[in-house]
Amino acid sequence: IFSDSQKASLAVANRIKDLILAKQKANEKFVLGLATGSTPTKVYEELVRMHKEENLSFQNVVTFNLDEYFPMQPDSLQSYVRFMNEYLFDHIDIDRNNVHIPDGTLAMEDVSKFCQDYEEKIKGFGGLDMQILGIGRTGHIGFNEPGSMANSRTRLITLDQITRTDAASDFFGEEFVPRRAITMGVGTIMAAKEIIMMAWGEGKARIIKETVEGSISDSVPATYLQNHDNAKVILDDAAAADLT
Ligand code: F6R
Repeated sequence: IFSDSQKASLAVANRIKDLILAKQKANEKFVLGLATGSTPTKVYEELVRMHKEENLSFQNVVTFNLDEYFPMQPDSLQSYVRFMNEYLFDHIDIDRNNVHIPDGTLAMEDVSKFCQDYEEKIKGFGGLDMQILGIGRTGHIGFNEPGSMANSRTRLITLDQITRTDAASDFFGEEFVPRRAITMGVGTIMAAKEIIMMAWGEGKARIIKETVEGSISDSVPATYLQNHDNAKVILDDAAAADLT
């Protein structure tokens, strides 16, 4: 628990830097799972700063994003492709061939094959070394909404009504929020060697309490993280306020 999200984000960025450097030394790739939304933006800003001011290189980094709305064009204002470019990829030296984000432009009949391939690609790189997560008010991780199974894999899901309400301002009205998304599954996330979940602000306090102190249940998918042996929850004071 940190006094504010800025300090917390610096700690997360430092952990990522240390792992990138350790893998560089070993001449190995660092496979990093990424999240979008308001929560990780300060981490990305700090990584960009480290690249520009400390020459931190991302040439050995391979990324897999958690999710993307479906349908979604990559150049749309709300696209996670556009988000990642704006906050991170346009400002660092990552090889674009090493960037993976679920494709919101697919024809429906191609989605399930795409999802299987996404899983195979992650496995092909030896699995995720680290996965960064935010949390939705429904307790979703990625877009694994309540009801998601522990062994779920990358797939097309239907967004929870609360999630669509929370996204309404980004889309200038709830009726314009896509009803579906492609997301890594709970099982995909849980297979990561290290997980860091972040949450800031009082709006997340109730779901953080349920996630950390509640019983493990598909009604709050983030509770599955209690079963992971290398998962950390990084909070600011406000998000931690309801913890006992
Ligand atoms: C985004 C994602 C979501 C968000 C969550 C919190 O890629 O997977 O689980 O992390 O909805 O969103 P923010 O950070 O905007 O509160």
